[in-house]
Amino acid sequence: MSLPKQPSSGSATVYNYGSINIDHVYRVPHLVRPGETLSSTDYQIVLGGKGANQTIALARAGGQVSHWGQLGRADDWALETLKDAGADIDDVALLESASGHTVIQVDDEGENAIVLFGGTNQSFTPERIDELLTGADKGGWLLLQNECNDIDVVIRQALERGLKVAFNPAPMTPAIRELPLKDLALLFVNRGEAAALVDIDEQSDADALIEALQTALPGVNIVLTLGSEGAWRIDGERGDTLYQPARPVQAVDTTGAGDTFIGYYMAALQAGNDASTCLERATAAAALAVQRAGAATGIPTVDEVETFLKIAARPS
Ligand code: RIB
Repeated sequence: MSLPKQPSSGSATVYNYGSINIDHVYRVPHLVRPGETLSSTDYQIVLGGKGANQTIALARAGGQVSHWGQLGRADDWALETLKDAGADIDDVALLESASGHTVIQVDDEGENAIVLFGGTNQSFTPERIDELLTGADKGGWLLLQNECNDIDVVIRQALERGLKVAFNPAPMTPAIRELPLKDLALLFVNRGEAAALVDIDEQSDADALIEALQTALPGVNIVLTLGSEGAWRIDGERGDTLYQPARPVQAVDTTGAGDTFIGYYMAALQAGNDASTCLERATAAAALAVQRAGAATGIPTVDEVETFLKIAARPS
């Protein structure tokens, strides 16, 4: 196994215009049904948010990431986890209003259901967006998801200013289809997001999903994650595909596994690794994350990922 490249001081910074949520996580025997009252067996309040999770994963992977976020002042404790991971949090603003937060159920199979309240993630002003983009290095990466307001403005202005844009359309909404997706440098989608984006049946097999994505978004590099069915990377220029099988593990909590994958993928890319190394590291990190409770709390360190990869590489 060849050693992966590590980010150097010259690597292009990743700026993550990303949500920070306070996750209220309830452990339940099954996801609650309509009209049902269900007792939970455990309850925790932890840092989450697709944006914050991706930043933490990127930083724990050794990447250089600056988080652009907003949080209610009452929840400033949550910033410690971002800081401890090694992320730059100078551009996280503390506001007087309520933070973004979620109610998350996690069942005995590790599956989840999430109710999201946008809070401070939804109150970025045009002035603040302009200020953040003005301060960004040209040639850097902008990473974003769909939990903050005005992502259309942020994507368009970032492209105009020469940033490379990596986008994860989660949670998926109809407005996503109106974004300049063809100008993205990288698109991360799971099965549901891919199907909604190209308007095909969610149960379609990987080949059909890939073909539909290539037809809809020619020229765009796409990473398609299919959970236990592995992950694909579609090369926008050449049109060829790479496949990385998932590692068989017992899932405890899948919350944040996709975010862990994206953060590790971006860190490996930032360090100059090829797509197959990026896929391999991201898949290993996600496999570790699903074996642990919590979103941000379940994200592995780079040493844990290295050890996991070494063990997996050993002949049995
Ligand atoms: O992707 C997992 C995340 O989605 C959770 O941490 C929750 O905050 C929601 O944003």
